[in-house]
Amino acid sequence: MNKGLETIVALATSFHPARILMPRITELHVNGKTLKLDVEGERSLLSVLRDDLQLTGTKYGCGEAQCGACTVLVDGVATRSCIVNVGSVGKRKITTIEGLETNGRLHPVQEAFLKCDALQCGYCTSGMIMSAVALLQRRPNPTEADIIRGMNGNICRCAVYRRIITAIQEGARLLQAREEAK
Ligand code: FES
Ligand code: FES
Repeated sequence: MNKGLETIVALATSFHPARILMPRITELHVNGKTLKLDVEGERSLLSVLRDDLQLTGTKYGCGEAQCGACTVLVDGVATRSCIVNVGSVGKRKITTIEGLETNGRLHPVQEAFLKCDALQCGYCTSGMIMSAVALLQRRPNPTEADIIRGMNGNICRCAVYRRIITAIQEGARLLQAREEAK
């Protein structure tokens, strides 16, 4: 690339609207805590969680919102963190797989995935669990069709889908039992 063209590309990149609009982020509300940091707002939420906050339970799969490995909850909604600018979620409540347990006790959906052996390599598992938690918040008693529809877009390359569906059904039962025991 000649020098003049290089300069034009550099200028165009530095004035990209995303660079101007995204605020720098100095704190993030993650897993019930307000964490201090200092990162550019246009970075992906996934990279900030993994590289700056060492919350490595959330995985990088495709980077294009196609696989679900990077799913976290933003204000309770399942969200692909690989395509979300951290600057857009600075005031929102973020939950990662590390934040699901309470008082050292796993979330019922985590328990169910273990009980039903709903993983092989485990790479998709945290994204699956976060999507399942969001699904059960919307539909506490899902049918199998609800689960298949609700989990659409979460890909398991080991293809243990049957066990994942069973685990989500079991998670729904455990969640209900825990609520009733309160
Ligand atoms: S890494 Fe985000 S959806 Fe695949
Ligand atoms: S358990 Fe390997 S990708 Fe799902």
